[in-house]
Amino acid sequence: MFLTFEGSDGSGKTTQIHLLAQHLRTAGYTVLTTREPGGTRIGDGIRQLLLDLAHTEMNARAETLLFNAARAQIVAEVIRPALAAGNIVLCDRFADSTLAYQGYGHQQDIAELERLIAYATGGLRPDLTIYLDIPPADGIRRNRGRADGDWNRLDAQELSFYQRVEHGYRQLIAQQPHRWTVIDASRARQEVHHDVVQALQQKLPALAPNR
Ligand code: TYD
Repeated sequence: MFLTFEGSDGSGKTTQIHLLAQHLRTAGYTVLTTREPGGTRIGDGIRQLLLDLAHTEMNARAETLLFNAARAQIVAEVIRPALAAGNIVLCDRFADSTLAYQGYGHQQDIAELERLIAYATGGLRPDLTIYLDIPPADGIRRNRGRADGDWNRLDAQELSFYQRVEHGYRQLIAQQPHRWTVIDASRARQEVHHDVVQALQQKLPALAPNR
């Protein structure tokens, strides 16, 4: 079972993935958590290239290809083997991030991106995608206030960029409503977690823990 989490920067994906993984492990499932870009040695190297504040000359197409190179690696090296072994995979961002950020945010051609994503993933798609919904301005505020000082090149965008990204996610959700669950992520983390577990039970009853 392949579950992905999407949302603006600062929407709390990392925390929610952690809470859900704990919940599922307690219920007896084997769970693998990972993130994009990264999650492999090759992917972590690409992540450094992408996030480095000094890389101001990064070309938009080069950036798109790097995200998808990291994706091809993690799909082949980590995600497909884990799924084949019957594990649950929780991934912090996946192909929808390329469509939302590079497609809608940076206004690259969506049809071209879809072909590139299909090439990178070999057609692997999530069974369920959780969208953690938070107004972009709040996400930016949360992100900038983060104690870990994890500020990087990709965070240095205007509010209008994040608004296009959010609009992009809404389009993607409208196109495939059965695959997505939208959760209000502006609430306390336990409330959000409760809704994430409920969404999983509704969409994937075969998976439901604590039945
Ligand atoms: P990260 O530090 O993981 O941030 P977040 O907590 O927001 O997930 O950085 C990932 C950044 O990369 C984030 O700004 C979204 C962006 N991104 C893309 O632009 N395209 C992609 O395909 C992916 C996977 C991420």
